[in-house]
Amino acid sequence: MKPFKIRDISIDPPLILSPMAGVTAYTFPLLIKRRGGVGLVVSEFISVEGLTRHNPKSKRQMRFDEEERPYAVQIFGGKADRMAMGAEMAQEIGADILDVNCGCPAPKVVKNGGGSGLLRTPELLETILKEIKKTITIPLTLKLRTGYSDASINVVDIAKMAEQCGVEHIQVHGRTRDQGYKGLANWDLIRQVKEAVTIPVSGNGDITTIEYGMNKWRETGVDGILIGRGAMQNPWIFRQFADVLAGNEPYQPDLTEKKDVLLEFFSMCREEMAEIVALGKMKQLAGQFTKGLVGGAQFRQTLYHSHSADEILDNITTYFETLESRETFGDGVIEADSDLEFTTCEPPVPIEVLQREMAVTN
Ligand SMILES: Cc1cc2nc3c(=O)[nH]c(=O)nc-3n(C[C@H](O)[C@H](O)[C@H](O)COP(=O)(O)O)c2cc1C
Repeated sequence: MKPFKIRDISIDPPLILSPMAGVTAYTFPLLIKRRGGVGLVVSEFISVEGLTRHNPKSKRQMRFDEEERPYAVQIFGGKADRMAMGAEMAQEIGADILDVNCGCPAPKVVKNGGGSGLLRTPELLETILKEIKKTITIPLTLKLRTGYSDASINVVDIAKMAEQCGVEHIQVHGRTRDQGYKGLANWDLIRQVKEAVTIPVSGNGDITTIEYGMNKWRETGVDGILIGRGAMQNPWIFRQFADVLAGNEPYQPDLTEKKDVLLEFFSMCREEMAEIVALGKMKQLAGQFTKGLVGGAQFRQTLYHSHSADEILDNITTYFETLESRETFGDGVIEADSDLEFTTCEPPVPIEVLQREMAVTN
């Protein structure tokens, strides 16, 4: 596996932080990028209805840091004119790449024709891609699922059509819309896409270990690999993958680094957002990150029940000090490799829920 190019943009290493709503927004991508090994960051999906009606939230979602480049802004919607306008706005704010979401399974998104709904209407998708191409000069890329349902697998045809429209990189999550996040991603279909087009193709689905990622790459010959949920469990996964690609031993962070990454994330969140939102984000990351650590389940419980920044900081410090002094934490159990159960393309902890929760507990 070697670096590849999307037009003149080098994706080096060929490892991509997969877009995740409520997660790949400003703070988290920076955190991951700073660990190393990420060749491309993709924003969370951004509604063109919001963007083109000047919804401040949608505009905020497009923000990124220079450190995150190369940076793709991902948009979603079901109307060609709005998609073209949204694409233009992304180009104006300086995105390197414009990515179209053709995978989100959320009923709200599909109902309006966007996300994976576009898999059912290839003609509309074609119109959207052509309209966008007329509007922007930066490369256009596409993130697809394999089809709407098992009975309508059409990812290969859609990829060929997209290539004809001038799309310059295809990313395939190997599940159908109806599959949601159940079962395993079908990497054989990803291989078929790779064989059917000449533009670069990246594969996606269930990569949580370097070994699995390398196997999928060998089986499919994809140009790049996207990792989503695995990065929340292991922020060093890209760095480790890149190490192996370069023929080195994968980097192993020590306990201090693991503690520091949580503290760094919390501090970034507190600078960026209201305290209550930062607390929610912290709980979200810690919930994934502590899987596989000694006593992780009990540590998570203490975090979930923390209601202030000080409490969170104290709990993190205590947890890691306990581990560093080689004492055990809680029941001392290391959870087996956990399933990737964190599955939605909507923000995982809606702010209103958090606010209600805080109002009840405070
Ligand atoms: C919480 C969450 C939010 C997601 N949001 C998006 C999104 O905004 N855009 C998108 O294309 N895919 C989204 N996805 C799908 C991921 O990018 C990825 O395709 C999927 O999780 C499979 O990869 P993984 O097994 O490495 O996580 C989301 C997934 C999750 C779990």
